[in-house]
Amino acid sequence: MERESWGGKMGFWLAAAGSAIGLGNIWRFPYLTGANGGAAFVFIYLLIVLTIGFSVMLAEFAIGRHTNLNAVGAFQKLKGGPWQIAGWMGVLAGFVILSFYSVIGGWTIKYILSSFTGMISTSTNSTDYFLNFIANGPQTVLYHAIFMAITIFVVYRGVGKGIEDTCKILMPALFAILVILIIRAVTLPGALAGIDFYLNPDFSKITGKTILAALGQAFFSLSLGMGCMITYGSYIKSKKDSLPKAAAIITLLDTSAAFLAGFVIFPTVFAFGAEPGAGPGLTFITLPKVFALMPGGQVWSALFFLLLCVAALTSAISLLEVVVAYAIDNLKWPRHKAAIGIGGVIFLLGVPSALSQGAVSLNILGMSFLDLLDFISNNILLTVGGLLISLFVGWVIPDIAKKETTSHGPFAFQTIWLWICRVVAPVAIFIIILGGFGLF
Ligand code: TRP
Repeated sequence: MERESWGGKMGFWLAAAGSAIGLGNIWRFPYLTGANGGAAFVFIYLLIVLTIGFSVMLAEFAIGRHTNLNAVGAFQKLKGGPWQIAGWMGVLAGFVILSFYSVIGGWTIKYILSSFTGMISTSTNSTDYFLNFIANGPQTVLYHAIFMAITIFVVYRGVGKGIEDTCKILMPALFAILVILIIRAVTLPGALAGIDFYLNPDFSKITGKTILAALGQAFFSLSLGMGCMITYGSYIKSKKDSLPKAAAIITLLDTSAAFLAGFVIFPTVFAFGAEPGAGPGLTFITLPKVFALMPGGQVWSALFFLLLCVAALTSAISLLEVVVAYAIDNLKWPRHKAAIGIGGVIFLLGVPSALSQGAVSLNILGMSFLDLLDFISNNILLTVGGLLISLFVGWVIPDIAKKETTSHGPFAFQTIWLWICRVVAPVAIFIIILGGFGLF
């Protein structure tokens, strides 16, 4: 049977942008910015994304298109041996990340519905509301199941009819919702203080920790380090399409989505005198509080959580596809069996995460089960994966890498890119890993 592929360039771009733009952009990026001092963090983040982020994405696309295989298969075909570990870690990361990602995806569904049923009201304490919800085991598991079922359904339908068609509708919708929300946010009285916090850098706020947070966030946000972009790149049919251009477009779309999300959140938060550094609770606790003070707040809230849900869904699809593509290519499973079987196992693995937020006490190493999985995947699987991918492309297959990226661009481009893969990215990533373990 012929391997599936994207219908066209546009479909691939939107699907890859759909993977990249997710909870990482709309939920994580603003709260990290808020907690790390605002504009200075944004500046460092941009610097990292444009150099290391872009380069590793291009590396993944090159491996994917050259082999037309999933993450594990691609490394096996190109070199085998210990390099396969990079592929295996990717598949494992797909399992682990999706299991807790889907739990948070479920929260967004709950919050769309709750916008109309009393959550958005000045008499509701949004902190209690959130804590009560996440401590309600049956409810969090139910919404996790709904979110996972939608994800499985899309992947079940295949690369073209499922993933590509879904992203072609949802990605434009996402940007449209984002624009509507930005217009509302920046026209609120008092919005200016938020914009100032967001855009006026105070470089004294930058510490080693800030840089580490920005590096980790860049990988997570661009869907790098676990073969996700290898898998999506493997469905590109045309050898003529420019991969550097694709990587540039997707990096740009992802970065704009994160940057624009800040224009929704900070003006809104500052206009109503809330705290920008509230951490992970910024979205689920602070924003409902702020929406309750806004005229038409229920509708704005529903629209915001719809945005978050759509973003999460197109990313969740890509996480499941990494594992499903492996099962189809290497284990010769039919797609429907892979989607349902693997999706089902990931759902089960997500149940302890769903319950770990207050329903039952599930703390390991001082972290809730969900936070533990988040920590392991971000600090170990993605970073080590990104390090290996980058070294692999730079040192093991530089000729293939050059062939896949020959474009009309300036001559120096390939050289700079390869040296980022060979040295700059690995060294930087190595530092994140040490930092993740608190070694400096
Ligand atoms: N990039 C997505 C986000 O920002 C999450 C995601 C999807 C991801 N696929 C990935 C992260 C692969 C790392 C690797 O929310």
